[in-house]
Amino acid sequence: MERFLAGNRRFVQGEFANNREYYYKVSLEQHPTLLWIGCSDSRVSPSIITDSRPGEIFVHRNIANIVAFNDGNLLAVLEYAIKHLKIPDIIVCGHYGCGGIQALDAGIEDPFITNWLLISQGALNTVNKTVGLSPIERHRRLVEENIRLQLKHLSLISIVRNARQDNGMPHLHGWVYDLDNGEISAVESMS
Ligand code: CO
Repeated sequence: MERFLAGNRRFVQGEFANNREYYYKVSLEQHPTLLWIGCSDSRVSPSIITDSRPGEIFVHRNIANIVAFNDGNLLAVLEYAIKHLKIPDIIVCGHYGCGGIQALDAGIEDPFITNWLLISQGALNTVNKTVGLSPIERHRRLVEENIRLQLKHLSLISIVRNARQDNGMPHLHGWVYDLDNGEISAVESMS
């Protein structure tokens, strides 16, 4: 634990102290322009991989960046992001090398994770129709299909669908992050 508290002291004395005006401004209110729905994976930290600062990204993360219709946590995040923050863009960001997606493909014993990953079953069905893929290609395709599926789920959630019908916003984007080179690529978008 000490390592992280020491890190916070460095943050306070460095970044925070050097940008007092910025941190004062964001302490008054937040105006993030992006809602990030991503994987809980410790290697896919939205602010770091997009080189952005506190105040810029509103975040929801879970295993395998899943958009579930009955997820009260996500629905509250969406309601707040759309109704109050009026965020114009929502990103569903998956990543290659995702343990959740590997578990979806391999099948696992853990009951809660298995139950959660059922929401991505449609992506697995799609990929299973494609033959001749190498294991790496299959994994990458499954990661991408899962992003497309979750983006579709997102577009069907009433808060999102109604807002898009009424004001053409939020725009929905599917991104994938590559652990090997740090790059984000677009997979799909619904403007
Ligand atoms: Co992951």
